[in-house]
Amino acid sequence: MIMSANLDIETNAEDQLTIGGIEATKLVQQYGTPLNVYDVARIRSQIRKFKKVFEEEQTEYEVSYASKAFSSIAIFQVMSQENMHIDVVSGGELYTALQAHFPASQISFHGNNKSREELSMALENHVGTIIVDNFHELELLQSLLEEQPTTVNIILRVAPGVSAHTHEYDQTGQIDSKFGFDIDSGQADQAFEIVNQNSNLNLIGIHGHIGSQIFESEGFDLEVERLMQLLVHWKKRYDFVSEVLNVGGGFGIQYVGTDNPPAPEELVRQIIQNVRQAAEQNHLPLPAIWIEPGRSLVGPAGYSLYTIGSRKDIPNYQPYVSVDGGMGDNIRPALYQADYSGVVANKVHAPVVENVRISGKYCESGDILIKNQPLPETKPGDIFAILATGAYGYSMASNYNRNPRPAVVFVENDRAQIVIKRETFQDLVNLDSEYFINIGGNYDKENDRTRNY
Ligand SMILES: Cc1ncc(COP(=O)(O)O)c(C=O)c1O
Repeated sequence: MIMSANLDIETNAEDQLTIGGIEATKLVQQYGTPLNVYDVARIRSQIRKFKKVFEEEQTEYEVSYASKAFSSIAIFQVMSQENMHIDVVSGGELYTALQAHFPASQISFHGNNKSREELSMALENHVGTIIVDNFHELELLQSLLEEQPTTVNIILRVAPGVSAHTHEYDQTGQIDSKFGFDIDSGQADQAFEIVNQNSNLNLIGIHGHIGSQIFESEGFDLEVERLMQLLVHWKKRYDFVSEVLNVGGGFGIQYVGTDNPPAPEELVRQIIQNVRQAAEQNHLPLPAIWIEPGRSLVGPAGYSLYTIGSRKDIPNYQPYVSVDGGMGDNIRPALYQADYSGVVANKVHAPVVENVRISGKYCESGDILIKNQPLPETKPGDIFAILATGAYGYSMASNYNRNPRPAVVFVENDRAQIVIKRETFQDLVNLDSEYFINIGGNYDKENDRTRNY
């Protein structure tokens, strides 16, 4: 069956794909391919939709961008302009946010194996909240706080024991998970007691995250139930009143025409209403509700632009049409069997003549970006745009096969600007050094025998 992508795209009178008002092919002329482009207005619009729901529901809240979806100085600046919170999960993400002058007090530091150095960096820079994941981290924090006495806000991450209906690799909230303190076996209680004994650790709440690319509300309903049960238990047992309930992210987006997710903000509305109801029933004050969307903020705003090159036709098999990028700039199809859809940017509505596989240029048979793509007639040099690639694309990019990573461009108000330069071949060898142990330990560049091999 030949299906056309019915994702939300804009075209002009010449049937050209436009992004934020600019023709995709113009961006390609200026910046080359492969190219990642973000429509910044779309990111801002989704942020505002999330915030509006909280305002309408009259709840204390934070919308914290899960920056693993895409982190760069420019995106942190946008988040700062929108007065957002952000999550970081590594020293590198934290460093990038600080380089963007993102306010440290609005940063939460996540991760299941934060190093002593990373935690120390977070404390030195007065990060707003550390989301503590495990006992080892509690020990590290306690020992660091003895050396650099200060008070830090923490949230305890618990595993709510909920498996959201999503791809297996995306599940993080079930009991058998590397993330967070288990509730049923008493780990969460034990963590609470440790924290309670340390006056430098200011426990402001609990956190749960049940997975990613979630379309149904049931998983969130169960998560809220489990987290609120824990708060009721801690009120009874420890007289603890939580300021914050952080329910994580995971709100799904549309990648292909058959995906039909609810608006992410409507999943959030239901979460708020469930929390309020549980708080009222259990006579608890309503905690501030924090959410951590990543994909839903930047995913739909992102486009990957490629140039079509070779093709291979095999009798009785679906053709391969290859583009000049692939698993190095978007690992998700190979890693998660993730589906995407795309359009030929220079003739979006031209009649479809065939269904093909869009293959990448990497030396792996599994480097197929789209398994079943309807295409009009194409020729080498046409521009193929994959839609909704803004989350976990560039942020998971690699230099596999020593391919340079693409450039990233932000488009807003009919203007485009490079925010991450294209890597060069020189960049690829910048961290390399020549090897000389086997030639006697004295490296003589002029007479390097290895050069003649
Ligand atoms: C703890 C936590 N919060 C938020 C997110 C963001 O999820 P998503 O991008 O699906 O919204 C993730 C992603 O895995 C996560 O692990």
